[in-house]
Amino acid sequence: MKATAKAKATATAKATATDTWRLRGTLRIAITCLPLLGGCTKTKRGGEPPTPSPTPTLTASPSASPLPSLAAVVDAGPADPRVAAACRSTHWGKAPAAKVTPFAIDGERDKGCPTHLDEKAQALLGVTVDFGELAGFSLDGDCTTFHQASQPDACAYDAEISYPGEGRPALDHGQSVLAPVRSGTRWRRGRTPRVEQLSPAQRAQQANHWLAVARAEHASVASFARASLELMAVAAPPGLLAACARAMVDEVRHAELTFALASAYAGQPLDPGPMPALTPRGGGLVAVARDTFIEGCVAETSAVLRAQRALAVAEDPAVRAVLTRIVRDETRHAELAWQTVAWCIAEGGAEVVEAVRAAAREHEARNGTGSSKLRFEGPEHEHAHEHPWRDVIAPSLELLGV
Ligand SMILES: [Fe+2]
Ligand SMILES: [Fe+2]
Repeated sequence: MKATAKAKATATAKATATDTWRLRGTLRIAITCLPLLGGCTKTKRGGEPPTPSPTPTLTASPSASPLPSLAAVVDAGPADPRVAAACRSTHWGKAPAAKVTPFAIDGERDKGCPTHLDEKAQALLGVTVDFGELAGFSLDGDCTTFHQASQPDACAYDAEISYPGEGRPALDHGQSVLAPVRSGTRWRRGRTPRVEQLSPAQRAQQANHWLAVARAEHASVASFARASLELMAVAAPPGLLAACARAMVDEVRHAELTFALASAYAGQPLDPGPMPALTPRGGGLVAVARDTFIEGCVAETSAVLRAQRALAVAEDPAVRAVLTRIVRDETRHAELAWQTVAWCIAEGGAEVVEAVRAAAREHEARNGTGSSKLRFEGPEHEHAHEHPWRDVIAPSLELLGV
């Protein structure tokens, strides 16, 4: 029995390592050949500053959506508008400076408060995370200023959450926007997984996992919709726009497939509710490159590796079919993201290179051991590659001259 498990672990590790190197090769071809931009052309690096593009009009961003747990499949009620305006995060909490100080992870302070706390401050801050993995807390300046008007020693924090989502997130000021979940049967596609042999606890675990994935897939539809408007605002070529539209359809299918899995495991019909509208962000080529790097290059590249790893150990035919499709489509989305950044660099030159470099440094500093390292449970994963940043993202950045 032990020998079989070891053989399986070794096979899984080998398959995962192969998948990682294959993805790295696929992205190398995408970056150096740029097929979405009309063929194998060389990416211009560090060229002349671009002709200024018209900047889109900025409108107020929507407030972030509620994140109900599976147990509470209801829409949250309206929040106090003054607090909602100051504290934009959907996962925030406050406490006096003296009480949060023991949880500080470095000596940095602002507004009399430690700027970063470890995840053990969760109980003190009263933050409930029902999606993803809590990585720690960062000081929310606006929210702290708001509360210090009535309580001078108040410190308010946003939760930093590593999302298990399979693809491009819909970010609003760094926070992931998701639709609430409600009862319904419209988002259905694919085969039904076997649930009879699972215990209630196993079913609940699977239901929560797939519901988290389904909500992230659904949010990716909105993310690509906004991305297409932002690309048009910088006069992107038709190849990128067509790929973006195709990716949006892919994400609709992923959401249907994964909501179907979540509903089957939960034993109740689950659908996404209304998604808060995302308005296009301004900032021209520099912003498009920076946002695409974080939301596309990092998130979708990691998503491919994560889905490959899950596929290597999945046994249920319905789950394997969903993961196979996700791996295929997310690979294409990762290619699109890297080619979008390559195009931005070709158009915008040194200024864009610098912005992507800064975003990469900031992301690595914030998430060095968090989202840049995939976490998986089970001994069968111990030998597998766990560093999408080291193995795929960093080499791809190098190809771009970043
Ligand atoms: Fe995707
Ligand atoms: Fe997806």
